[in-house]
Amino acid sequence: MAEVSVNRAWRLRRRPVGAVVPGDLELVSESAAPLRDGQALVRTLVLSVEAASRIWMGHQRAFMPPVGLGEVMRGVGVGEVVESRREDMKVGDIVAGFVGWQEFCCADDQRLEAPLSVLPSPLPAPVSAFVGILGHTAITAYLGVDLLQPRPGQTVVVSAAAGGVGSIAGQLAKLRGARVVGIAGGPAKCRHVVDDLGFDACVDRKDPAWPARLDAALPDGVDLDFENAGGPILDHLLMRLNLNATILLCGEVTQYNDTGERTAWHGLVNIDQIHMQRATMRGIIVTDHLDRWPEALGALGQLWASGQLTYDETVVPGLDQAPTALTSLLAGHTTGKLIITVAEPTTIPGHPLTTG
Ligand SMILES: NC(=O)c1ccc[n+]([C@@H]2O[C@H](COP(=O)([O-])OP(=O)(O)OC[C@H]3O[C@@H](n4cnc5c(N)ncnc54)[C@H](OP(=O)(O)O)[C@@H]3O)[C@@H](O)[C@H]2O)c1
Repeated sequence: MAEVSVNRAWRLRRRPVGAVVPGDLELVSESAAPLRDGQALVRTLVLSVEAASRIWMGHQRAFMPPVGLGEVMRGVGVGEVVESRREDMKVGDIVAGFVGWQEFCCADDQRLEAPLSVLPSPLPAPVSAFVGILGHTAITAYLGVDLLQPRPGQTVVVSAAAGGVGSIAGQLAKLRGARVVGIAGGPAKCRHVVDDLGFDACVDRKDPAWPARLDAALPDGVDLDFENAGGPILDHLLMRLNLNATILLCGEVTQYNDTGERTAWHGLVNIDQIHMQRATMRGIIVTDHLDRWPEALGALGQLWASGQLTYDETVVPGLDQAPTALTSLLAGHTTGKLIITVAEPTTIPGHPLTTG
């Protein structure tokens, strides 16, 4: 192995109860194992911090198994290959996928369940774009909106509207001609959603009068709901559904700071409205649709390049900040896609790390 002998990695020490606190994860420095045939060493450049990171720390029944205690925290990112004993990866390749919350990962060609994919060369956009507007975040929005099929005359609601997924979902629904109402936390975020992202309206979920304000923003009811939050807001929206409405469950961020018990909130009281309004509620997981990623990336790239999509990032420097960045995301303190910068690329020196 070349010069890399030490890796720094966040390992899960205990399952958080509620918000992540110091001690739930530990940043450890450990020796990096020498590469074997079929392996490549990848230096992490940027990490995506996302709501699902909190799910993976808990014991919820979810779309992927929880991270085991003692394991390196699961995380998506972009890295550069700095050493290789793999036929299909060469030094200097830029790769994306599950690199983990660590400085270096080993890309093993036997790890078939979540292989890292090699990005085009030369890299056509800043590194961070490949977990954001040109990565799984925006692809989730694209596929979700495509499933909802909004059209002129319909009203679409998007929760967590200023966040990574929601900001793109709302803009895509707007591009299809629908009226789009966002829900976000705080007046500044709501202004951003309307003024910068072009939504028709945005309701502040932190305003105690949010139920009445949401009703006022939905004079024609709800045809389509791109649901990122779940919880009481979704329950309220159920009472505003139009006949044959569709709810796309993309996420339920209200429930991710798992306390181990479901005591704080008792579920969807208005679930009968799915029946009464002959509505459809369905879930989506972006990695179930890998076959459609090239199409999604083509469309998103074109819309972004032509200025029809606005894409924002909140950038936090340093691997050390990963747990606090996640807490900040779940508390609603970030806007757009949350990125952690870990290292400057050495194999493509000077290439921008982030889009800002
Ligand atoms: N299905 C998939 O394949 C897939 C893939 C990626 C992401 N997702 C989902 O997409 C959603 C957004 O994820 P992201 O990573 O892009 O995060 P994000 O939207 O950038 O950040 C999460 C946002 O959730 C909102 N929030 C936090 N607590 C809330 C509460 N109690 N009630 C309502 N809103 C609350 C906050 O926004 P405000 O304070 O502005 O409300 C916060 O900014 C999540 O539900 C995530 O699980 C799904």
